[in-house]
Amino acid sequence: MDIRLEPKQLAEVDSDALVIVGFDGAPPLAPAAEQTNELYDSGEFSGKALEIAILHRPAGLKAKRLVLAGGGKRDRFDAAELRKLTGAVVRSLKSKGIHSITLSLDEAWRSDDFAAAAVEGAVLADLENDRYKTDPKKNEKRVDSFSVLSGSQAAVERGRILAEAQNFSRDIANEPANVLTPTLLAERARQMASEFGLECEILDQDRMRQLGMGALLGVAQGSAEPPALIVIRYKPAKAPTSTDHLGLIGKGVTFDTGGISIKPSDGMEKMRYDMAGGAAVLGAMRAIAQIKPSIPVTALVPAVENMPGSKAQRPGDIVKSLSGKTIEVLNTDAEGRLILIDALTYAQRLGCTHMIDAATLTGAIVVALGSVNIGAFTNNQAFLDKLLAAAKSEGEKTWQLPMDEEYKELLKSNFADLHNIGGRAGGSITAAWFIRDFVDETPWVHLDIAGTAWLDDAKPYMAKGATGVGLRMFVRLAETW
Ligand code: BES
Ligand code: MN
Ligand code: ZN
Repeated sequence: MDIRLEPKQLAEVDSDALVIVGFDGAPPLAPAAEQTNELYDSGEFSGKALEIAILHRPAGLKAKRLVLAGGGKRDRFDAAELRKLTGAVVRSLKSKGIHSITLSLDEAWRSDDFAAAAVEGAVLADLENDRYKTDPKKNEKRVDSFSVLSGSQAAVERGRILAEAQNFSRDIANEPANVLTPTLLAERARQMASEFGLECEILDQDRMRQLGMGALLGVAQGSAEPPALIVIRYKPAKAPTSTDHLGLIGKGVTFDTGGISIKPSDGMEKMRYDMAGGAAVLGAMRAIAQIKPSIPVTALVPAVENMPGSKAQRPGDIVKSLSGKTIEVLNTDAEGRLILIDALTYAQRLGCTHMIDAATLTGAIVVALGSVNIGAFTNNQAFLDKLLAAAKSEGEKTWQLPMDEEYKELLKSNFADLHNIGGRAGGSITAAWFIRDFVDETPWVHLDIAGTAWLDDAKPYMAKGATGVGLRMFVRLAETW
């Protein structure tokens, strides 16, 4: 999709569809009011969020259609609402075979943040999860261009970069696990890194064995697919003035059967998105390479498949992590934390001073927060507060959960330094504590995205499947460091 900034007068816009926003109880003002007031008066349109009405051959305009898009309550309208609204408009008009769309915003919303959000909504809405459908007609309906009338060129560009990166991440996470093995995930990461001028290194099984990543390798050993530890580095052109170095660590389980502690078959097919955290950090690096923040950023993705093969790890096995601590594996389905800790220890060795991990880590976070909020955990409140501010600007809802010392008691093992599960109660918190035990004092945030990384059903503004959640806050954090 072609993304453009076209600072034109409303009457001069000549696309297939000129989109204006009408609010709940607050119809658009002149010059569009003439055409839209009747829609409000007749009750055909009320301005509720994501509502859409289409007028053909609007008088006094060059555009073929005037599209009235519902913004909801005017005083609650923000960039996040606009992102969803442009997404809903693009998906709706695309389904009708409309090819070019131009968005006009009222005076009050002509800022860079709104322009970027509008572009993001459009680009995110464009991605479908239908690569494996062989219907030859499926690509006939597509939006070729999306334009905004206001905002700066830089903002429009930023929006495009972020949303294209997010689509890259969604596209990877949507791939089925027979296609996207750890090896292919590493290959996709390597390609992306070379395309965008990032350093990339892939640690293979032998290298990980030499280093002593026993926790990660224990998870990988049940699969015929070899594991990979993906490391991608972004270094700012100008030498940074501080020693701060951001580490982004994403869980990359390309399929999670549970291993010997096997999962029930019902819904197991969804476990192909167990690498969504890894996909989010790779996508973040793709955007960071283009936005060029002044802080160095290193991404690490431990990529494995969790299978119950004949070499698989057994409940009760004791493994030695890279940190030197030993772990009794009571449940092989609590594999995410095992691969993450070796990657986090390695990130510290690479010089990361601040670390964020993103992981589809627990079913318990879905119970606690549903599919609305990401669950956040930290050992450093100031660091999390920074990230929460970035998340808020990006419309990525995130909710902090507590980390009292009492929860940590549940990880005490009879035979090793600790075991890998803390029981059903407070399952997301004990999972976070397990990870925290390996990061010590390094400022760290853990994001549990199990509930937010996948849409079972399409939203008006986004296709079903992977959401790419987390990526935008990472980029914003690096940008505003
Ligand atoms: N990948 C799962 C978590 C998950 C659940 C992701 C639902 C997405 C949707 C993780 O590896 C897992 O299996 N967690 C277990 C941990 C338990 C064994 C302590 C869980 O949540 O049941
Ligand atoms: Mn699991
Ligand atoms: Zn998992």
